[in-house]
Amino acid sequence: MSATKKLFVKTYGCQMNVYDSQRMQDVLAPLGYQSVDEAEGADMVILNTCHIREKAAEKVFSDLGRIRKHKKAKEENGTDKMIVAVAGCVAQAEGAELMRREPIVDMVFGPQTYHRLPEMVARANRAIGNDRIIDTDFPVEEKFDHLPAQVSQQGYSAFIAIQEGCDKFCTFCVVPYTRGAEYSRPGMDIVNETRQIVAQGTREVTLLGQNVNAYHGAGPDGDEWTLGRLLRELSEIDGLERIRYITSHPRDVDDDLIFAHRDLPKVMPFLHLPVQSGSDRVLQAMNRKHDRQTYFDIVKRLREAQPDLALSSDFIVGFPGESEKDFEDTLDLVRQVGFIQTFSFKYSPRPGTPASAMELQVPEEVKAERLARLQDLLAEQQLAFNQNCVGREMDVLLDRTGKFEGQLVGRSPYMQPVHVNGLTEADLGRIVRLKITAAKPFSLAGELVEEGGSERNVA
Ligand code: SAH
Ligand code: SF4
Ligand code: F3S
Repeated sequence: MSATKKLFVKTYGCQMNVYDSQRMQDVLAPLGYQSVDEAEGADMVILNTCHIREKAAEKVFSDLGRIRKHKKAKEENGTDKMIVAVAGCVAQAEGAELMRREPIVDMVFGPQTYHRLPEMVARANRAIGNDRIIDTDFPVEEKFDHLPAQVSQQGYSAFIAIQEGCDKFCTFCVVPYTRGAEYSRPGMDIVNETRQIVAQGTREVTLLGQNVNAYHGAGPDGDEWTLGRLLRELSEIDGLERIRYITSHPRDVDDDLIFAHRDLPKVMPFLHLPVQSGSDRVLQAMNRKHDRQTYFDIVKRLREAQPDLALSSDFIVGFPGESEKDFEDTLDLVRQVGFIQTFSFKYSPRPGTPASAMELQVPEEVKAERLARLQDLLAEQQLAFNQNCVGREMDVLLDRTGKFEGQLVGRSPYMQPVHVNGLTEADLGRIVRLKITAAKPFSLAGELVEEGGSERNVA
């Protein structure tokens, strides 16, 4: 076993990247790499990057500028060298160019290669002079087969990747190019991993996938499991109290999934179902493969199945050709559906995507103005939802300590942070019933309901 080395990992982008960063730390631990909080003095720096919008990708280059100084300083100290690696979606999309532009980068590797990391690191450590490593292959099945069976350091609420990649090819999006084709892990692998982390204290799992409800993993009997089926199987696990999944596509909401929301109390009544736009014209140009009426219909069926269901979404404003009328259709959809938490973005043209070559790109100031109007409406809806929670009782999974002595913070079924006083750290990991006493734009406060505050799991 080699001596301890310092590893600094910085994560950009989505939850899948957060998960992947943890996996990278797991595969490097046996080589003696321990995680540290800053790049300065580290033996290895990994930037796990995101390519989704221009800003996200640019950040990587500015961070590399800073890291250059630390790398130099380390070399001047005469200590071991600092390996600088770029992973994730920028690496996948622009690996070769990145190497050319940034001489300090020793390694570039894409999201499907993390299981090969120990071998790459060994090579980089041996490398003399300008021997640099680039690996942007797409052997997805291999990745899942070769990573350690289980993720370390999972808390009361844990993430499990169940699906990766995307075959949808929305015209604005880089994900199908950076993450490759859809791949679903075998059902029993996920069930077993969940059992293991639940045995270690996890009470809530969030199933991750770029297109998570397109999940179609192999079942143990040669059959194929849908996401609905997987949710049913996971629901059987004693000690697991809550199940979430992210991110879904409206096209892949099937009956099985709707029935899972109706029948399984452990499946939280909160669904992130990005719609992007409320205009049929724009939805078509985006290649979203559904229209606004279809979205309304899906939401209606979901709410009939689970009346407590609340929704969140992603929106893009200023997609090429989006007119004021199109944008107003989006506002109208938002008013009709009602969302409780959302992410909204100005359209950002991405290299190689069809939309970036479309005519009628929307001017920056129009995008900014539309984004502000949309966000005002969404913020209003979010606050109204939070205020409506006041007086209600909710089950809250306590998962961290608060700022003040005796204060804990947990998550409601709707992912709202809820603050509660008068508890101790021994209560972490419990699901308690709270009466909501106050609401802010982004959080709630509650009091313990003394009687009947059992470990139940309803909203
Ligand atoms: N798989 C998910 C989304 C992944 S990307 C889905 O299908 O919904 C996360 C969000 O980033 C998208 O929902 C979209 O709103 C936004 N996004 C993706 N590409 C973008 C671009 N080129 N410009 C602005 N926002 C973008
Ligand atoms: Fe991107 Fe569309 Fe795939 Fe989501 S469904 S990852 S937005 S291409
Ligand atoms: Fe970004 Fe890649 Fe995730 S582009 S959003 S890190 S899949």
